Amino acid sequence: VAPSPIDIIIFGGAGDLSWRKLLPSLYMAHLHGRLVDNCRIVGVGRNDWNGEQYAAFIDKTSRAHVEASALQEPAWQNFLRRLDFVSLDATAGEGYARLAAACQPGSTKVFYLATAPVLFSQIAENLSRAQLIDGQCRVVLEKPLGHDLPSAQAINEAVARHFQENQIYRIDHYLGKETVQNLMVLRFGNAILEPLWRAPYIKSVQITAAETVGVGTRAGFYDHTGAMRDMVQNHLLQLLCIVAMEAPISLDSDDVRNEKLKVLRSLRKLSLADLQRDTVRGQYTAGVVDGQQVKGYLQEADVPECSDTETFVAIRAQINNARWAGVPFFLRTGKRMQKRHSEIIIEFSDPPFSIFADQPAASHPNRLIITLQPEESVKLQMMAKEPGSGMKMRPVHLNLDLQSAFTERRAEAYERLLIDVIKGRLTHFMRRDELEAAWKWADPILEGWKQLADKPKPYPAGSWGPAASSALVAREDAVWAEAQ
Ligand code: BG6
Repeated sequence: VAPSPIDIIIFGGAGDLSWRKLLPSLYMAHLHGRLVDNCRIVGVGRNDWNGEQYAAFIDKTSRAHVEASALQEPAWQNFLRRLDFVSLDATAGEGYARLAAACQPGSTKVFYLATAPVLFSQIAENLSRAQLIDGQCRVVLEKPLGHDLPSAQAINEAVARHFQENQIYRIDHYLGKETVQNLMVLRFGNAILEPLWRAPYIKSVQITAAETVGVGTRAGFYDHTGAMRDMVQNHLLQLLCIVAMEAPISLDSDDVRNEKLKVLRSLRKLSLADLQRDTVRGQYTAGVVDGQQVKGYLQEADVPECSDTETFVAIRAQINNARWAGVPFFLRTGKRMQKRHSEIIIEFSDPPFSIFADQPAASHPNRLIITLQPEESVKLQMMAKEPGSGMKMRPVHLNLDLQSAFTERRAEAYERLLIDVIKGRLTHFMRRDELEAAWKWADPILEGWKQLADKPKPYPAGSWGPAASSALVAREDAVWAEAQ
């Protein structure tokens, strides 16, 4: 039997996300035989294009975003043949009949909403009017899902009028990263870590997502968003959930998401006093990144002269439950940092009594270091004796070298998640209550900063953020990864 047809319909098909990430990821899936022959990709947008013109646009814009070694000309040309385009104004009902006509009869439809979220409600409404929504279709919602809790609820409400919750895929591409998924295997597929995975055996956890890029051409979006909404409320909290959750009873999507939800609900809300002590906002000034002189945030195109938007955040979060009481979770993200580096570090407690206490290396002996990017690795820092006479010790790494242990191809996050959508697997997508719980924690922080008229602290591009961020962790005898 021929597999049933699939139509992937991308609203915002000519947008940045589409040509930079979605189409290159779909091409990789195509190249590796993961798309059925009758899977078509329909771009939707206001451009007055037909399918060929869209294919020409993607040919021009997406090529550079496909890994050079994977760009095989015949496969690329075949991939472009899957593309079609429907020109319509998403807010007006008229074009949707043409969209319906462009879909294959009896297809499973995946609606990918890569547009501004203000359009989600109208798109869902118009899809419904055009009778494009059936029991087997799916909708993918791109972030930002709201600006605060009420706006997130409004989006969820509007979409829920037309789609069941199990048809809604709220994407957070960090959940598609190989090492993030591996963390679940590391924790729950091994016996030796889990008994120690709690207070008091863990002293602190740090989660960093550092980028070298600046705001680029996205200031129009970013200046209203800031690092807290852009990275912390979603990506960093999702990583925190995977580190902190209890073992789910199965890998079933709701079992996993129930556990993540409990973590989000256990996050301690920060008061105004906490904010001054436990959070740091920063904004980059001119500096040097990767040997290049770069502008400060305020000099970037389209950034208002005296913008208070943060491009860096460090937060001491805490999870109030039996497993984690008292363990600080340090979250940090920033643009224009010294290196592109995303990492989770689990710092274990010191031995209860040390016979090596006179040696500086004796503090912070054990760390599990999970690097997400640029390379993927898992290392466990242990203490070992330096060769020779005497009993001097030195940290060494037990290295779980994932790159050489597995020769299989590693798909990019978007490719993996798009395949999950096609296969109807919801585990690595956020459920509505998770998203709203994340906002319930983030809102008082954003609101508090506003009330305090908190000005972001300047930090030079190419640094590791404001000095206050080191002070935040030093209070609890911790140091950020780069200083270890
Ligand atoms: C996006 C943010 O969600 O994640 C961007 O909107 C950020 O501002 C990006 O640059 C980071 O993703 P990655 O996978 O490069 O760490």
